[in-house]
Amino acid sequence: MSAAASGAVALDGRRVLLIVSGGIAAYKSLELIRLLTGAGTGVRCVLTDAGGQFVTPLSLQALSGEPVHTTLWSLTDESEMGHIALSRSADLVVVCPASADILARMAHGLASDLATTLLLATDTPVLVAPAMNVRMWQHPATQANLATLRARGITVVGPDDGVMACNEFGPGRLAEPPVILAAIAALLAREPVPQDLAGRHALVTAGPTHEPIDPVRYLANRSSGRQGYAIAGALAARGARVTLVSGPVNLDPSPGTTRIAVETAQEMLAACEAAMPADIAVLTAAVADWRVDVPAASKLKKQPGRSPAPLALTLNPDILATLSRPGPSRPKLVVGFAAETDDLLSNAVAKRAAKGCDWIVANDVGQPLDGSPGIMGGTHNEVQLITAAGAEAWPHLDKHEVAARLAARIAAFITGDRSETHA
Ligand code: C5P
Repeated sequence: MSAAASGAVALDGRRVLLIVSGGIAAYKSLELIRLLTGAGTGVRCVLTDAGGQFVTPLSLQALSGEPVHTTLWSLTDESEMGHIALSRSADLVVVCPASADILARMAHGLASDLATTLLLATDTPVLVAPAMNVRMWQHPATQANLATLRARGITVVGPDDGVMACNEFGPGRLAEPPVILAAIAALLAREPVPQDLAGRHALVTAGPTHEPIDPVRYLANRSSGRQGYAIAGALAARGARVTLVSGPVNLDPSPGTTRIAVETAQEMLAACEAAMPADIAVLTAAVADWRVDVPAASKLKKQPGRSPAPLALTLNPDILATLSRPGPSRPKLVVGFAAETDDLLSNAVAKRAAKGCDWIVANDVGQPLDGSPGIMGGTHNEVQLITAAGAEAWPHLDKHEVAARLAARIAAFITGDRSETHA
């Protein structure tokens, strides 16, 4: 695998907590967010008071698609996600730009604002990209602080030599965002995905079903299978044993999954029931609601000048409703999908109740995204997660990032980490 490809793998579906401190280079953090989200990394931002003099929370929020955290004293943030949970919500904490002031506070263990409190509380690796005036950089105090931070295992990227905003020349310019991105990818490649689903069995359905009309024709729904395959891969990456029951699609099985290929809804249900027991079921398949009552044994012929015979249809079994039924073999967590073109939220909430599943991932398939002819079949998704606690809108994300977030939420639910879930 090339360095670029392994970097992309390391970044895809990972989570970075980005702390933006003060300095003229703060605007370059916007470019870093763009590069990270483009590589499939989820970015959550913390903006210090000094950083807020150079970039606005709105810019960070627009680019990251996540709320921006600015204060230690926000009651809303404390109830939704305390600063300890925030500090641990990422695979990597990145301080970019890192001013002389924040480096000094980090080195001395101060917790005087949200950023430094998080840095003191975190148990995840930290990378800093310093940027400051050349004399501040060369000052023995700054160099001693950096030596302390390096000795504690913190990674330092840059600064570069160059002309500074203050017209002086020398080291102090923020490293270029692609260089910082490469350093982040290298660190994440060393940080394995948590194996919190080890020993668990997850069942995932994906793709369409094909319901034969005759030996050459079938009824089907539109579905590329991409979202389901990405979810199967994300659950396997966290250590789960994954059975992927798949309708006909043009995809390779996700690494670490066992694929069972099926054609019809009845075959899909039988394969799911045979795969039980499972701790988790995520049913993404676009199952055809109806099948032809009695498929023709040989190809139906066109009769010139005559209308075709009407197709008599029968309702297919509802796999999601069947697996959600209470009973000793019901998975601990059953997640369904709802693709809707109208009234997304009310339809999805009603679907959760009607099917008896725990969560619904709802997406509006009426909105074309990423230039594809419609959201179905595209590479991105914009979903809402509906649980007993309500609906949570996720930003427009690559399907791998949706999968990684969902897998993290599932793992938190299964392992009982209440800070991450509201089932
Ligand atoms: O009823 P609807 O097709 O909109 O429901 C979507 C959800 O139900 C998806 O999770 C889909 O995989 C599941 N489903 C199913 N069996 C069916 C129809 C839908 O498992 N026959």
